[in-house]
Amino acid sequence: MSVDWSARYQSGETPWEKGEAHPELPFLLSKHHELVGDAVRILVPGCGFGHDAKLIHSVTRAEVLGLDLAKEAIKQARSSYYQAGLAWTVGDIFTWPGCYDFVFEHTCFCAIPVERRADYAASMARLIPEGGYLLGVFFLNPDHEGEEGPPFGVTLDELKGFFDETFSLEWAQEPAHTYEGREGPGRELSMLWRRKS
Ligand SMILES: C[S@@+](CC[C@H](N)C(=O)[O-])C[C@H]1O[C@@H](n2cnc3c(N)ncnc32)[C@H](O)[C@@H]1O
Repeated sequence: MSVDWSARYQSGETPWEKGEAHPELPFLLSKHHELVGDAVRILVPGCGFGHDAKLIHSVTRAEVLGLDLAKEAIKQARSSYYQAGLAWTVGDIFTWPGCYDFVFEHTCFCAIPVERRADYAASMARLIPEGGYLLGVFFLNPDHEGEEGPPFGVTLDELKGFFDETFSLEWAQEPAHTYEGREGPGRELSMLWRRKS
């Protein structure tokens, strides 16, 4: 099922929007500070109102791009966080061109229709050159049995199935911090993937 994301922003039906970056992001940026510090171009796909991209931008000299399909989200991100080195663009991850040595994923993968997940992985492999990184907080279990997504849950084995061919898994850990309502074991998984040759 595909979602009209612009309509969701227009109607204010945005339960994912928490007004702040993911609470685990400060830890992730500190844990992987060398990768983030060395990066030249960083992409945050499905950035929404841009809180994650803004926080990442504050700890790197890289150019950071927040990309989202919905112009309403990008308009809000641009008006909240307008600064040099931090850019906002309306675009589709499946067709967006470019080359990024670091990508941060948070609630974009789970928003993609299940049948397009292989395309998402292929897009990451296209956008990230050999040696580049995909760091993500993957939403494994939205815990909404009986309701239709998005967000669409995923298992660790399924994630490996999508990314193993073109990325190697360098590190994974359940977040110690998360938003209210996402707590509990097995709900989310932080993962660092490195692009293979
Ligand atoms: C669940 S929201 C999460 C937004 C943000 N990551 C957050 O946590 O606040 C998913 C976002 O992905 C965007 N999105 C969905 N499909 C996309 C695509 N193909 N390319 C770029 N953005 C997309 C939507 O417009 C929406 O803003």
